[in-house]
Order: sequence, then structure tokens, then C-alpha cells
Amino acid sequence: MTKRTVTCVAIVVTGLAALSMAVAAQNAPKPAVADTKPRMPQYNSDGALQLPGDYRQWVFVGSSLGLSYTDGGPSSMNMEMFHETLMEPTAYRQFVDTGTFREGTMLALLLHGAGEKVMPARRGKFAADIHGVEMAVKDTSHRPEGWAYYNFGGMSGIRPTATAMPKESCYSCHVQHAKRDNVFLQFYGLLAEAANIKVDAAAHEPAALAIGGLDPVMLVIGREEMGKPEIVETHGSLRYQFVSEPNRARFAADPDKFAAESKAAFAKLGQ
Ligand code: HEC
Repeated sequence: MTKRTVTCVAIVVTGLAALSMAVAAQNAPKPAVADTKPRMPQYNSDGALQLPGDYRQWVFVGSSLGLSYTDGGPSSMNMEMFHETLMEPTAYRQFVDTGTFREGTMLALLLHGAGEKVMPARRGKFAADIHGVEMAVKDTSHRPEGWAYYNFGGMSGIRPTATAMPKESCYSCHVQHAKRDNVFLQFYGLLAEAANIKVDAAAHEPAALAIGGLDPVMLVIGREEMGKPEIVETHGSLRYQFVSEPNRARFAADPDKFAAESKAAFAKLGQ
């Protein structure tokens, strides 16, 4: 080989090596948290949220088993599920740096059935089949209250899109009980630690129940109706339950009046 051919071959080889490295870099899974360009939720023309294709690769922030805010009735006893909360990586990065959930933050909640007695496991339970996929999305341009909640189905198939759930089905419990900006940070030790935030789950005891759980707005118009534990409002050191979201809003508009009047009406009930 002449000197010239050697140089040529060397150039070709170097070129090929560079090319193959570039291809490899493209195919290699990117470390999730290194992404920095903020990802935003995508909606279809009807305003339904599209389920992001990669949500199962998001950052794991917490898990729970059979967690429930309502006192366990028979159905919740039968269906003890594993919950996993995953967070979209660019929003995760931002939260770790700033302690705030930016616009466009997306969190996914995966519900799994509890599997057991699969060899070689003799004891214990593990997260088995997916029973549900839900999402929480902070997007003020889409919903004035910011956070919206979506249910993508589960056992009988996961839908590619979902419309926002009514406020009283999901939002009201989150806004009332979640530790930080509608997100249940008190159950996500890993996320709190990564953002250097101290949360004490035990310190988040709900306030004592007022007027035996009756709806105060109904009570002042002379009707004795039990409020729902998921539609609540805290006033002073007490927690009020309501039959509906409009009732909660009426109470919230003038809590002192409703608190005083319902207390008086409640006292009369026993007489
Ligand atoms: C009665 C209270 C309550 C209601 C109602 C509720 N949730 Fe939650 N949600 C929780 C709790 C507690 C967690 C903590 C994580 C867990 O369950 O493991 C949570 C966590 C989540 C998360 C993970 C991100 C976060 O905000 O912490 C999503 C997503 C979610 N819920 C979606 C929904 C959807 C969709 C609905 C309505 C169909 C709903 N939730 C209704 C209590 C509630």
C-alpha cells in the first residue's frame, strides 16, 4: 500500500467509527433525568389528554399498598392494590431544583393487583397486573384551577386519550389533603428527599370532623344529609363534608356564617 492509500483507509475507518458512534448514541436510551427541554401535555382536538407513550419509563417517586382516604368498605378490602407514582423527567428535574411543580407537570399513578404465591415466593406480595392508569396534570391554560385528573382505564384495556374528571371526583380530595400543590408529597419520600424538603406524613392528620359529618349547607336549610368524605373543606380546626361540589363552594364563600348556623342547627338536632 502506498502512503496515500493508507491515509485514505485511515480516514474512511475514522469516519465509519464516528458514524457508528453517532448511531449508537441515537439508539442508546437517554438517561431520563438528563432531559432538560420541558415536556408539555398533549391534547387532541376535543381537549382530551393523550397518554404519553413513554410514561412507564418516567422517574419513580413513590409507592404505596392499599392506600385509601375513605374508610375501608368491603370493596376496598377485596382490592388491595399496589400504587406506583411516576413523574415526567423534565418536570422532575425542575422540582428537584426548585421545589415547585411547573406548568405542564405530569404525574402518572399505576395501580397494580397484588400478586402472591408465585414460585419461588412462599410469602409476601408483589405488584402484578396493571389495574389502572391515572394521570395528574398541572396546566392552567387548560383548566383554570390548574390541576386536572384523568383516568385511562385499566384491566379491560388502556385508552390512548382521556377527558378530565369532574372536580369533585378527584381534584377536591387532592386540593384538600395533598401536602404540596395538590401532590401527595407526604407519601413520596424519595421525591421529597431529592428536592431536600422535609415532610412528615404523620403530621398531616386531617382536622376533626365537624357536625358529625353532615353537610352544613343542607343543615342550615333544615335537611339532615351526610356529606361525602371526598368533598371537604377545612375551617378553623374542623373539617366539613358536603354532598356536592356546589355546596362546598357555597360554604367556602362564607364559612363563618355556615359554621355558626350549622353548629346551632346541629345542637338542636339532639333536643
Ligand atoms: C379521597 C382522596 C382521593 C381522591 C378522591 C382521588 N385521589 Fe388521587 N391520590 C390520593 C392519594 C392518597 C394519593 C397518594 C398516592 C397513592 O395513592 O399511592 C393519590 C395520588 C394520585 C396521583 C399521583 C400524583 C399525585 O397527585 O400525588 C394521581 C395521578 C392521582 N391520584 C389521580 C387521581 C384521579 C384520576 C382521581 C379521580 C378519578 C383521584 N386521584 C382521586 C387520594 C385521592
